[in-house]
Amino acid sequence: MRTSTATVFGLLSLLRPRVLAQTYDPSKTLSIGIVLFPGFQPLDVIGPLDIIQILSGSHNMTLSMIWKEIGPVWARAPPRRTPPPANSSLPIAVYPVQAPHIVATHTFNNTPPLDILLVPGGMGNRVLHENNDTVIEDFVAARYYSELQYLLSVCTGAASLAKSGVLNGRHATTNKAAWAWPTQFGDGVKWEPTARWTEDGNIWTSSGVSAGIDMTYAFFRALLGAAVVDPVINAMEYTPHTDRHWDPFSVVHHVPGADTSGPLGDCVGPAGYEYECPRKNTASTHTLVSPINELPLIAK
Ligand SMILES: *[C@@H]1O[C@H](CO)[C@@H](O)[C@H](O)[C@H]1NC(C)=O
Ligand SMILES: *[C@@H]1O[C@H](CO)[C@@H](O)[C@H](O)[C@H]1NC(C)=O
Ligand SMILES: *[C@@H]1O[C@H](CO)[C@@H](O)[C@H](O)[C@H]1NC(C)=O
Repeated sequence: MRTSTATVFGLLSLLRPRVLAQTYDPSKTLSIGIVLFPGFQPLDVIGPLDIIQILSGSHNMTLSMIWKEIGPVWARAPPRRTPPPANSSLPIAVYPVQAPHIVATHTFNNTPPLDILLVPGGMGNRVLHENNDTVIEDFVAARYYSELQYLLSVCTGAASLAKSGVLNGRHATTNKAAWAWPTQFGDGVKWEPTARWTEDGNIWTSSGVSAGIDMTYAFFRALLGAAVVDPVINAMEYTPHTDRHWDPFSVVHHVPGADTSGPLGDCVGPAGYEYECPRKNTASTHTLVSPINELPLIAK
């Protein structure tokens, strides 16, 4: 359900946001914002942030960590209004005990103009939804249509983008373990069941949690160039998945409409190097070697 604010901005989408060249003006300071909320998924935030943090050593950037109040925001979600059944197969994901926090530096009201906004996922956005709290959606819609050059989401952060109206008619993806929940939102969103990440105009969305690192790497590579970003990802000793169509988790989590013909494995290596890629175990031939329960991780 969209708020009236989001509806107004949704109508504005008929005007279509300007097409933005994938160029970067090094004399300009990039203003980057990341939304926080109680119950954010840590890696959704920290993965992309690590790339941004290293890039800020060579590029002028400002960072706004955004929530309702300045101060610590915990990764443990408040209690659900409609908790999942007690026999839910993954209580640990739903009720984590550990609650690391990140400090919000800005509120939705005093965040400076942004060039790039990233919205993470996590159980907490369901709590906001159950409380009819659209603070994130209102902020996303307002900033998207007024100033943003790029809007990114990780994991179920795509739910907030969809609810805000900005994904209407656009390609997007989200966490495959949570597929049913975010994909109920938006109007005519072209949800891609098999995608590590999507890019549609100036909106990028990634699959679950770790996929945000691959998307952020690809995003900054498009914005700043390989010569800048490859050394960063190599310094992190992370081997990025660079094929956005590689998505074994659409198979693992039985996403309706998933393409099961692709390889489950993706041979990865350091950025900027050539390497041999033997690919084994296509989705149609794979077998589980140990009897693990595939997780309806954050289903419903
Ligand atoms: C960053 O901004 C400062 C102050 O405007 C400027 O002196 C410096 O050259 C900029 N650095 C880069 C890498 O653009
Ligand atoms: C959990 O319990 C509900 C209600 O008793 C039942 O309908 C459902 O099938 C159960 N789910 C699992 C995974 O056992
Ligand atoms: C949220 O809105 C729905 C629909 O208007 C309503 O039924 C529900 O009670 C509301 N929930 C809260 C917590 O206000």
